[in-house]
Amino acid sequence: MPKLTRRHFVLSGMTAIVSTRMRSARAPSRSPNRPLAIASANRVTLPDGTVYYNGIRATARAFELMRAGSDPLDAVIAGVTIVEDDPNDMSVGYGGLPNEEGEVELDASVMHGPTGRCGAVAALRYIKNPSQVARLVMEETDHILLVGEGALRFALSFGFQKQDLLTERARQVWLQWRRERSERDHWMQNKLPGALRSALPTLDWAHMTGTINCLAVTEAGDLAGVTTTSGLAFKVPGRVGDSPIIGCGLYVDNDVGAAGSTGWGEDNIRVVGAHTVVENMRRGMSPLQACLDALRRIVKLYGGRPAHQVNFYAINKNGEYAGAAIFKGAQFAVTDARGSRVEDSAYLLERPPQ
Ligand code: GLY
Repeated sequence: MPKLTRRHFVLSGMTAIVSTRMRSARAPSRSPNRPLAIASANRVTLPDGTVYYNGIRATARAFELMRAGSDPLDAVIAGVTIVEDDPNDMSVGYGGLPNEEGEVELDASVMHGPTGRCGAVAALRYIKNPSQVARLVMEETDHILLVGEGALRFALSFGFQKQDLLTERARQVWLQWRRERSERDHWMQNKLPGALRSALPTLDWAHMTGTINCLAVTEAGDLAGVTTTSGLAFKVPGRVGDSPIIGCGLYVDNDVGAAGSTGWGEDNIRVVGAHTVVENMRRGMSPLQACLDALRRIVKLYGGRPAHQVNFYAINKNGEYAGAAIFKGAQFAVTDARGSRVEDSAYLLERPPQ
């Protein structure tokens, strides 16, 4: 395994930097680091100023369940359910930011390594736990992806409760966005830079494309993953990003590893990111190398001047892991035998090109 601490990459004439705080770059230990769960880690700020990282709760729960013998898919779904249920988290599930008409539309996918099976839902309204519905698509049908009204009816037929997912806090953000929308706003940048930025002064990439991806490997080496999201804030109704698309927002191969993504979904779809990362690992790359390679493909699509943040997360069967992003500043959550923590993602570029 190549040593990857403190390395510099040169990309399209620009110096690309990799964070020096990469535990994933350590030489592999003799015994596998299992069980292990990793997740994206968005900062959630409560009205009283309290801050927490959503992914930590998910990885801690997934790890605890795997330690008790749980299947890895049950573990990661239980983990992200905490985040989907959290009204203070405006990136996922209940309380997620709505589409441009003020309606919350959720997407999710799940994949189970031992069986190679997967399921997904997209543009699902009124059901706060799309990851659980995605698992039912996997378990109860021969299909993989259900969308919109059909996904809703499917969920209701299994007893899911219909509820209004738009919290007052998310509604206020949407109202402000709508008030300040102007001719400067356009489809190509999700109506940036005008209304969206002023809608939420602290708005960052993570809120705009809010998503949680959680990946796990059990002590026995079985893998699974889930990705769940409210998608791009103020999106066109019906817009679906990468999260529910198997191979883009999530991919798991029980012989190799698992990968997932958060950030600007359209950019990820163009490189079929999660599948690319897993195939990179199959060819011998570490999780970190595999993620950075997929990110470089996105940067190349923009001639070296990428417009949006994209994050990849990856684990392999041995329990090595990585989080990597196009731009500096991203973090991810990890829980293993050493405990739960947030680590800095590796990155390619210090900041978006001016
Ligand atoms: N990555 C989430 C989305 O683009 O919808």
